[in-house]
Amino acid sequence: MTTPSPLRPLRVAIAGIGFIGQVHIESLRRVPGLEVVALCHSSQAAAEEKARAWCVPAAYSDYGEMLAKEKPDCVHVATPNNLHYSMVEKALRLGIHVVCEKPLAVTATEAEALADLAREKGVVNAVHFNVRYYPLVREMKRLREKGELGPIHAVLGSYLQDWLLYATDYNWRISTAQSGDTKAVADIGSHLIDLIEYVSGLRVSAVMADFATVHPFRKKPKKAVETYSGKMLDTSDYEDVPIALEDLAHILLRFEGGARGMVAVSQVAAGRKNDLQVEFCGAKAAMSWDSRRPNELWLGSRDTANRTLLRDPSLVDPETRALISYPGGHNEGFGDTFKQLYREVYDAVRTGTPPAEPKYPTFAAGCRQLALCEKIVESQRRQAWVEV
Ligand SMILES: NC(=O)c1ccc[n+]([C@@H]2O[C@H](COP(=O)([O-])OP(=O)(O)OC[C@H]3O[C@@H](n4cnc5c(N)ncnc54)[C@H](O)[C@@H]3O)[C@@H](O)[C@H]2O)c1
Repeated sequence: MTTPSPLRPLRVAIAGIGFIGQVHIESLRRVPGLEVVALCHSSQAAAEEKARAWCVPAAYSDYGEMLAKEKPDCVHVATPNNLHYSMVEKALRLGIHVVCEKPLAVTATEAEALADLAREKGVVNAVHFNVRYYPLVREMKRLREKGELGPIHAVLGSYLQDWLLYATDYNWRISTAQSGDTKAVADIGSHLIDLIEYVSGLRVSAVMADFATVHPFRKKPKKAVETYSGKMLDTSDYEDVPIALEDLAHILLRFEGGARGMVAVSQVAAGRKNDLQVEFCGAKAAMSWDSRRPNELWLGSRDTANRTLLRDPSLVDPETRALISYPGGHNEGFGDTFKQLYREVYDAVRTGTPPAEPKYPTFAAGCRQLALCEKIVESQRRQAWVEV
């Protein structure tokens, strides 16, 4: 592994140029000193088309060949979940720094193996829990750390979408082979529960889950579709397939120390496009944040009027300020979270080794969420509380 000179741009390669891979490219280009040198996609023709569209110099369908020829400083893995393990492992063995989309793998055992290998190789390793990078999410964490809430006794959260509402909505996430043993929980529940533990500093100690599969059969398109693009298909072009994974999950949480939590995760909630809401209830105060209005933080009090804090660098903790690029009133959103995550990760890549206490979510966070996912699935299967 080499330590890059601060003067040369860092070389970045990306695997999987679907919905989110394209957001990676766009956001990487907003961080000074980074160059997207190559991409890898499922076929050579598609890779070349994506490379032309995104003005990326090199296109591959063979991921191993891309790593060997391009020798990137860092690779981003944004393919379906079942490919994460082998792709990340290959990069780590070559001493290449890695940013992997969530979930880090499809099982906790695989994720632990990747975390061990990353440690052994001494490379920077990050899992893409970008929701942490909304500035007011960091502000919630700082307010809790400064004692503004007092001890937290309850956390309420939901992450709701509607893009899988109809039986004709189909995506690789619906297949156990590509997604793993959960769909909604691993896909969006992992963002929510990661955020809850990150902001509250609490650790989930037991879970009780109730899943539902709203469509036991779905109509699978006979041709491939990228995430969120299924609405454009012709309804005649489908075949019926049985569905094993959950469309929605309601989960009760217990935390070490006695706090309680409750989360709802759904991809079949009409009208909810991508809505993450969370509320932390403490002994002194409460705070609530909603991804639909990410530049506002509600602060609840029993004895004084409730307040709404607007994202403004002059009004927040210095650690939060570091995640804000624009003045108050100039709104920041989804794409900005990617940029802010990359700024922290690539500061580490530039030095060549992971910091002692990384601020960004590392593979350890990926392992934690997969371990929790497995306990949640076990609770659903047993219909009982399961200790973590
Ligand atoms: N952090 C977030 O907010 C967020 C949002 C969406 C998705 N994700 C994660 O990103 C990953 C991708 O999800 P998506 O929604 O972009 O899916 P997608 O289906 O839109 O894109 C995945 C792409 O990977 C390509 N691909 C498949 N096999 C490949 C291979 N062997 N080599 C290279 N490319 C290959 C597919 O052709 C497809 O275009 C998933 O793990 C998902 O959980 C994260």
